[in-house]
Amino acid sequence: MRLLLASAALVALGCGAVAAQQVARTGPGAEELQAGKRVYAHWCAPCHADVPSLAGTMSLAVKYEGSDIPAALEDRTDLPAPVISVFVRNGVAWMPPFRKTEISDADLAQLNAYLTAPLEDRGAHVPLLAEEMVRMQEGGE
Ligand code: HEC
Repeated sequence: MRLLLASAALVALGCGAVAAQQVARTGPGAEELQAGKRVYAHWCAPCHADVPSLAGTMSLAVKYEGSDIPAALEDRTDLPAPVISVFVRNGVAWMPPFRKTEISDADLAQLNAYLTAPLEDRGAHVPLLAEEMVRMQEGGE
């Protein structure tokens, strides 16, 4: 049943997300990517940034151990927008579902544009509060 619901959501979200993706790839897109990067920095990076001890990065490192799929979400090129949307709206394991009052549909379209853009268009990883915290912790020990 859960799978069925997830599939239905996938199809429903797919239509809007694909449209958003095309805008990012065919238009100038830079502004949308920057906006998506800000959404990512605020809502996703605290768990998914390129720091091995973060909940999302650690889980995905285990999940994809032995494959060439990177653990950090920002380095992934295999996630289509509809799949990202399903995870964002439904959550998984420790990842909470995000409501539209937190991440609006427009924010989600920007986030998807960023996370599905060619790697060279994404620029550097977002600067991270979480990363700084890890460094401080390591430095303080
Ligand atoms: C509280 C921590 C946390 C936050 C915040 C979070 N996630 Fe996650 N996310 C996780 C964890 C943990 C998993 C892995 C669960 C598992 O083991 O399958 C995950 C899994 C995912 C996956 C599945 C990837 C795969 O290959 O299985 C996607 C996509 C994802 N998150 C996207 C996002 C996005 C986009 C955001 C920001 C809107 C976000 N997450 C915010 C913790 C988080």
